[in-house]
Amino acid sequence: MKGLILLDRRTDDYLFMPTLSFFIQIRNNKILVIGLCLGSFREENMLIRFLLILLGTCFSLTGKESYPTPTHRTTKEMPAQIVPPLGLPPVPWPADNQYTADKAELGRLLYFDTRLSGDNTVSCSTCHNIPCGFGDCRAIAIGIDQRKGSRHTPTILNAAYLKFLFWDGRARSLEEQGMGPIANPNEMAKDDNPHEAHLQCQERIAGIEGYRVLFKKVFGSDEVTLSHIAKAIATFERSVLSGNSPFDRYRAGIKTAMSAEQIRGYDLFKKTGCVNCHGGFNFCDDRFMNIGIGMDSPNPDTGRYGITHDDKDWGAFKPPTLRECELTGPYMHDGSLKTLEEVIDYYDKGGTPNKNLHPLMRPLNLTSQDKAALVAFLKALCGEGWAHFQEPDKFPE
Ligand code: HEC
Ligand code: HEC
Repeated sequence: MKGLILLDRRTDDYLFMPTLSFFIQIRNNKILVIGLCLGSFREENMLIRFLLILLGTCFSLTGKESYPTPTHRTTKEMPAQIVPPLGLPPVPWPADNQYTADKAELGRLLYFDTRLSGDNTVSCSTCHNIPCGFGDCRAIAIGIDQRKGSRHTPTILNAAYLKFLFWDGRARSLEEQGMGPIANPNEMAKDDNPHEAHLQCQERIAGIEGYRVLFKKVFGSDEVTLSHIAKAIATFERSVLSGNSPFDRYRAGIKTAMSAEQIRGYDLFKKTGCVNCHGGFNFCDDRFMNIGIGMDSPNPDTGRYGITHDDKDWGAFKPPTLRECELTGPYMHDGSLKTLEEVIDYYDKGGTPNKNLHPLMRPLNLTSQDKAALVAFLKALCGEGWAHFQEPDKFPE
């Protein structure tokens, strides 16, 4: 991040008005003091003070500390290691896909590159986009040729920590997951045959010289394989985190970080049983539950049952993380609930009855203040660790 902030501080000396100027630069979220000037000017001597600041500016822009302009904005933006924001544990990097900044940067380029799709129109970020909290503000995903899928796009925030991916948990790692959309004709594939779709994607990326150079740098070989594409994208995804929310600061002992209403909402979150299914630092679980969403339709999505064919999984879905949920609506696997208020009303009425409804789903008899407090609490789960990402302004050619 290139930026320059000038701080100019004077001590209150009556006679000399000594002037101390700091020239600082923000880089990799760290503040660096790169210049320091001491002078002794009278406060009214604004011209000299102005010249002093100008001097510092030139120094900071031309000095060897100045920030080089990266070719694809950011090679430098990916830090040497990922330090998760407050409230999150260390990222579990797989043994066969450890973090490197270059790999994450390559993954970022691929993530935003529409050339991954069969007709060069859809990228991962078409559906998992930054303004929607790395989710999709549409109810149901729309992919290549405007084809509509059947489910709502979940956020990829904190997906680093998930043991199961997709609403029905059919993928077990981000590496495996990433191959899914590339071969899905409703998402990124032109070809209905997944194997063909994968090969075509691989060929398209391998045909781009700029990528071959980057693959060589990251994986030691300029052969572009689908597995390497998936590894790079997964590395980028694992760096997209959300923590340090008012809730995390509250938990860390800063009692003023949440408002009284949010604290009340947190109590209700525990009392009404939300925490049983949305537990832990990520407010989600590795279990699948049926809370009745879409179960009144004649042909409901059977969720996890479609994978396990186990009756206890009928209509069961993976609870998504609730972090950043203020931004990730509409909600639920079918995107059927538009606002957090509608979500709370849905839980208050006890969900939609069906043969496999979870026992915790029962009328809650919340007052309107209770509902408002729960919504206020959910909004206290918005934090940081993702919003600084940007689409690359240039892609390899
Ligand atoms: C056309 C829209 C679309 C595109 C393009 C797309 N996704 Fe998704 N993504 C979805 C939908 C919909 C789901 C949920 C599907 C399901 O559960 O059956 C999903 C699920 C995921 C998940 C699982 C999240 C979780 O909580 O389980 C991850 C991770 C993900 N996508 C990453 C990616 C990556 C990486 C790409 C690019 C290679 C990509 N997606 C492209 C729509 C899209
Ligand atoms: C029995 C387990 C269970 C309980 C209790 C529960 N949830 Fe959920 N929650 C889920 C599951 C499962 C989903 C996803 C369901 C689906 O899409 O079909 C979900 C989805 C959500 C979503 C939507 C997230 C998104 O991005 O789409 C929100 C918000 C939410 N729950 C908040 C709450 C609150 C607040 C409470 C307490 C009033 C609560 N949950 C109680 C299991 C539960």
